[in-house]
Amino acid sequence: MTAPAASPAAVRPAPRLRGEPRLPGDKSVSHRALLLGLLAEGESRIAGAGDGRDVRATARLAGALGALVERSGDDPRAVDYRVVSPGRAGLREPGGVLDCENSGTTLRLGAGVLAGLPLFAVLDGDASLRKRPMGRVTGPLATMGATVAGRAGATLAPLAITGRADLRPIDHAPSVPSAQVKSAILLAALAATGRTTVREAVATRDHTERMLRARGVAVRTEPLPGGAVAHAVEGPAEVAPAVQRVPGDISAAAFWLVAGAIHPDAELTLRGVGTNPTRRAIIDLLRRMGAEIEERPLGAAGDGESGEPLADLVVRSSELRGIDVTPAEVAAAIDEIPVLCLAAAVARGRTVIRGVGELRSKESDRVAGIAAGLVALGARVTVAGDQIEIEGGRSLSGATVETRDDHRLAMTFAVAGLIALGETIVRDPGSADVSYPGFFGELERVRA
Ligand code: S3P
Repeated sequence: MTAPAASPAAVRPAPRLRGEPRLPGDKSVSHRALLLGLLAEGESRIAGAGDGRDVRATARLAGALGALVERSGDDPRAVDYRVVSPGRAGLREPGGVLDCENSGTTLRLGAGVLAGLPLFAVLDGDASLRKRPMGRVTGPLATMGATVAGRAGATLAPLAITGRADLRPIDHAPSVPSAQVKSAILLAALAATGRTTVREAVATRDHTERMLRARGVAVRTEPLPGGAVAHAVEGPAEVAPAVQRVPGDISAAAFWLVAGAIHPDAELTLRGVGTNPTRRAIIDLLRRMGAEIEERPLGAAGDGESGEPLADLVVRSSELRGIDVTPAEVAAAIDEIPVLCLAAAVARGRTVIRGVGELRSKESDRVAGIAAGLVALGARVTVAGDQIEIEGGRSLSGATVETRDDHRLAMTFAVAGLIALGETIVRDPGSADVSYPGFFGELERVRA
């Protein structure tokens, strides 16, 4: 693991951007592949998993619960895992606290797994994770019969969970659109007797459903009126071991899509990007802004085991214009909104992004963080309630920007530095390792 860089990164404008930045394996898919490998008796293989600190935290959690987890490969972005598990019944009580570090996915999906295991475990994380809302997960898991304790009435980590192998099924509508909440409940549902249903007002990323199906668990998904969707699992259900190839992370690709679109002399190619319909909103939003993004689908052939569509993407310098972004689009592009704000700052005209409240509960308050950083760089950004308004068309000037130890803010401001006049000083850039180890190296390569 690359140690978090203590010193700030200085980014100077690039005369041109060319090449093929290498992407990490998709973080969401990597977490799920490890956790499902933990639950499945036998050997699972994962090829091209993300190797950021978040995914490593999940790999450690799987090991602490009794799976053999072997990691191989020397690409700092993507590694292979072999997970050999005794299966749910053979898992063991961890000897210490399960440290999820900065990773909400590790903690929330981990809680869903633990709810269905008859053992005691404590989930904890760093200062950022300890501030993030956990009641949305612990509430339904407690209703299913898990015993959950934690700070602030079991709504903040550390969380202590005593699970049980015979949970009760529930019918639950999460209060916020969240793939993590949905996934935690569906993972717990494997240990419940009867049908568990999760009703989502807005469809969120569906990797868990796809990956459960690929491992022999019937997940029934039905559309409901108004864009809502219901997912149902009949428990108890066994997860079969699987071989999975992980797509390139579209949330990481987003930084290059924006870099290429806002830079006046750019052509960047991104290979093997996951273009799952529930993850690709950033491509469509940028295209609506006028971004020239060519998509060359790779088809199912290259990706038989993962059930995830893939494409090569080519982005070229573009004339962007402002757009209106709806709350449903924010939910669909939740991790890409910070870098979309950078595109909006450069675009001609105004961009209004509505329904951004959930961004305040991420690794940092991303509404405050993106607004402060872009304003420091000379952009015009106003936050009114849960709405961000950006008056675009201003050229950005280098400045010192605070990243709040948040990987997505660090990478967004580094991309801004490629076009800002003078030097952009990105403070605490080491957080990029959470999801994209090697990001700053790629930044150097594409400017060469
Ligand atoms: C994720 C879901 C999203 C996203 C996070 C990864 C997942 O979180 O922001 O980076 O892998 O399920 P929420 O479920 O809290 O929206």
